[in-house]
Amino acid sequence: MTAAAGPDLAPALDGIRLILHVLAATIWVGGQFTVTGLLPTVRRLGDDAPKQVARALARLLWPAYAVLVVTGFWNMAAVHANNGGSAYQVVLGIKIGVVALAGLGVWLHQRATSRRGLAIWGSVGGTASIAALCLGVFLAG
Ligand code: HEM
Repeated sequence: MTAAAGPDLAPALDGIRLILHVLAATIWVGGQFTVTGLLPTVRRLGDDAPKQVARALARLLWPAYAVLVVTGFWNMAAVHANNGGSAYQVVLGIKIGVVALAGLGVWLHQRATSRRGLAIWGSVGGTASIAALCLGVFLAG
């Protein structure tokens, strides 16, 4: 009896590579979403509470960003990204730019002192992070 044709499982190493990349993406993107949503509650806990929570969030976000960059280059090597079609190359190039913008936005947000600066850089970081996530899904095909 022949096995029914159907979808295959990812090989173990590819699975580990993508699990690390996606897990780090959930922390980088989800962390920003979650803390933004909790902010009105955090503000009620005290004047210093938002700063303390922001510092604690940074301790989670930056290791996740580092994992994203390392596993991002691992992705490129594993899928032989240089051999991809021109649409793939364009999307990958845009994604790398958007990832850099996300990192810059979050970094400047952490250093902003005015409400305006906090809002602008927080939005840039958050929007670029979501864009990176969406482009990544298209790259994975
Ligand atoms: C904010 C940072 C990043 C986020 C949120 C992000 C998110 C994602 C997501 C959600 C996927 C889809 C995984 C799947 O559906 O299985 C993906 C795939 C991918 N990412 Fe990223 N990523 C980031 C950074 C990077 C960087 C820095 C690079 C390259 C240097 C990169 C290269 C890739 C590649 C090549 C794929 C396709 C992998 C495959 O086909 O197996 N990513 N990314």
